[in-house]
Amino acid sequence: MNGVTPAPAPFPYEAPVSALLMARSRAVVPGGVNSPVRAFRAVGGTPRFVASARGAYVTDADGRDYVDLVSSWGALLHGHAHPAVVDAVRDAAGRGTTYGAPTETEVVLAEEIVARTSVEQVRLVSSGTEATMSAVRLARAATGRDLVVKFAGCYHGHVDALLASAGSGVVTFGLPGTPGVPAAAAAATIVVPYNDTDAVARAFAEHGDRIACVITEAAAGNMGAVPPLPGFNRFLAETTREHGALLVSDEVMTGFRVHRSGWWGLDGAPEGWAPDLTTFGKVMGGGFPAAAFGGRADLMGRLAPDGPVYQAGTLSGNPVASTAGLTALRLATDDVYTRLDATAAQLSALATKALEAEGVPHLAQHAGSMFSLFFTEPDVAAVVDLAGAQAQHLDRFRAFFHAMLAHGVMLPPSAFEAWFVSAAHDGAALDRVAVALPPAARAAARAMVGPGGDRGGST
Ligand SMILES: Cc1ncc(COP(=O)(O)O)c(C=O)c1O
Repeated sequence: MNGVTPAPAPFPYEAPVSALLMARSRAVVPGGVNSPVRAFRAVGGTPRFVASARGAYVTDADGRDYVDLVSSWGALLHGHAHPAVVDAVRDAAGRGTTYGAPTETEVVLAEEIVARTSVEQVRLVSSGTEATMSAVRLARAATGRDLVVKFAGCYHGHVDALLASAGSGVVTFGLPGTPGVPAAAAAATIVVPYNDTDAVARAFAEHGDRIACVITEAAAGNMGAVPPLPGFNRFLAETTREHGALLVSDEVMTGFRVHRSGWWGLDGAPEGWAPDLTTFGKVMGGGFPAAAFGGRADLMGRLAPDGPVYQAGTLSGNPVASTAGLTALRLATDDVYTRLDATAAQLSALATKALEAEGVPHLAQHAGSMFSLFFTEPDVAAVVDLAGAQAQHLDRFRAFFHAMLAHGVMLPPSAFEAWFVSAAHDGAALDRVAVALPPAARAAARAMVGPGGDRGGST
């Protein structure tokens, strides 16, 4: 058996209450979930319904707790139910949950975002999807052009024009395209491989005077963690500028997660360039629905009411969400980022050690403190684009995922998602992960040779 232990016993833990809730949910909610990847379709089995969460742990409806490496898909930088965030939210909610009128909290939150990033002005919205949709509209309005260049495997929310070859759930489910997107919207999108400067140059050579913007994840996290190659983002900034187009840097995932200034703090700021527009979400909402887009004042000034580009929201700048976000950002000191980097490095080193011990080829890739495993062939040096991310052994991920779950660790239920740590992931949480990894690595090794495996033999 090449050192690989025999077929596994069934996972010791089922989730009967979650299974019942899923059955009830499926009757009234499409697919039983309110966002597709949550349904566990890519890994099989019963999605865990969460009853409560605290710090680095979530507790499911069956009363079992897990170290959480999903962190609400990156939204939680300080862990679940951080006391300072909860207190601030309670206090804010007691003063009213929404007014439909401006508040000082929104101003302070906008000031905090402006102080940390390259943007001069910022407009608050309620989701990352709204942020990217609005940024693209503004880019089109500012340039008087229609075409948008996006990268295969990057996900920018479920915006019509940005769903083509998207990452996250779109690639997880292998959806070829999305019915319901008008042909005209799809035709206005040019999709090129991530990290491919030649393909970008060709797109501009062919359509340069019709391209409104390039939108990119500042570092890709929706096909697994795939950082930009050195100089790639700067190349995008220079190329868009040369052609009178705009660069929209999507920092919904990376913003305030990988650095106090987002990914721009790791490349744009030290290299001396800035995107024209930037989108934010997740961390800046402190676990509530808040997001934003911002950029140069001359561009943002085109928005209504100062300019003609319409964009609005009943709950935009919601006082409770803004309070949660502001509290989370104020807690996000340089020390926190140093700690997150160290935690992520420790976790991926532990994963690598466990997988190497079982002879499972893989890559552990990082984009700052975001990271993920790719179960690639042994000769693959790096995953730099969607094609590379797709050329991995999904069976191995599935087996690994379920063994981690059975040992009390919740990973994102897809091989095409990044893993997220928080400041609450302490030594005890890491110890739990360390205990789960060896059996998970053995499960991945068995998937290499077992009847359900996607390869004929062991490597
Ligand atoms: C990079 C990026 N942009 C945009 C979005 C969409 O944000 P939301 O889910 O808040 O609409 C996401 C969501 O995961 C994202 O990762």
